[in-house]
Amino acid sequence: EVDIVRAVADLRARVRYWRDQGLAVALVPTMGALHQGHLSLIAQGLEHADRVVASVFVNPTQFGPGEDFERYPRREAEDAALLSGAGCHLLFAPQVTDMYPAGFATTVSVAGLSEGLCGAIRPGHFDGVATVVTKLLLQVRPDFALFGEKDYQQLAVIRRLVRDLDLAVEVIGCPIVREADGLALSSRNAYLTPEQRAVAPALFRALDATAQALAQGGEAAPLTARAVEDLRAAGFDAVDYFELRDAETLAPLDRPTRPARLLAAARLGATRLLDNVAVTAL
Ligand code: PAJ
Repeated sequence: EVDIVRAVADLRARVRYWRDQGLAVALVPTMGALHQGHLSLIAQGLEHADRVVASVFVNPTQFGPGEDFERYPRREAEDAALLSGAGCHLLFAPQVTDMYPAGFATTVSVAGLSEGLCGAIRPGHFDGVATVVTKLLLQVRPDFALFGEKDYQQLAVIRRLVRDLDLAVEVIGCPIVREADGLALSSRNAYLTPEQRAVAPALFRALDATAQALAQGGEAAPLTARAVEDLRAAGFDAVDYFELRDAETLAPLDRPTRPARLLAAARLGATRLLDNVAVTAL
């Protein structure tokens, strides 16, 4: 059984005990409702470190007004069982009032990288992510922190903040875990109706087909416009973005002349699906 700690002082005592034995520590931050994507990060953590801490915290500051903070799935007992099975050593599950006590006034904001793509649709979202991840990294002080490429812009924001703030942690990006039909695993897939779930894999198919066309020398603008049409025809209610970007800086690209990433967000009803793929450089 994975041990659960809620107070930062208890967390620090546990990590200090490991540190004193010379053990390396990895952190996997999550919002819970865990699935195989999250568990792949635990497995990667165990490859790099002797001890793995997972955090489960539905972070209110990264949700906008009218978003799904209240209805975001919370199932700590199931999460703890999955973490135990995956070999995770400690679950840190703080309370909102402990993470953000009265008077809390500090925000970590990563300019540039936080601005386009999901940042344009969810104002303030990446400030909330950057702030809570900075807190978690300072609370645990892990040697390694693992994040999924599923949230590619988030990973870029976190890599930047770790460099900019000289945090002594190695950030490890992990590949996207998918269902057999290509749909990227996500806690929010639980919101999909059976009809929406049947449409959902079209997002990965469109990304994959577009990435192949780009790798063969195609130009981004017509290919991505075509993909947006295809997604609408497949049954998506809206496409928030479908764009070719530099894999590191996320600057827009017309062709994959450098390591590039094709990123998309599209909506089925009120549920937004995110996905992205690497594009082979020309
Ligand atoms: P959450 O959505 O729970 O995701 C936790 C971690 O799991 C993130 O690094 C995310 O990229 C990764 N992940 C989710 N689905 C994945 C998949 N299908 N394959 C691989 N990795 C996947 O992302 C957050 O929580 C929060 O923003 C957080 C970083 C915890 C800050 O609150």
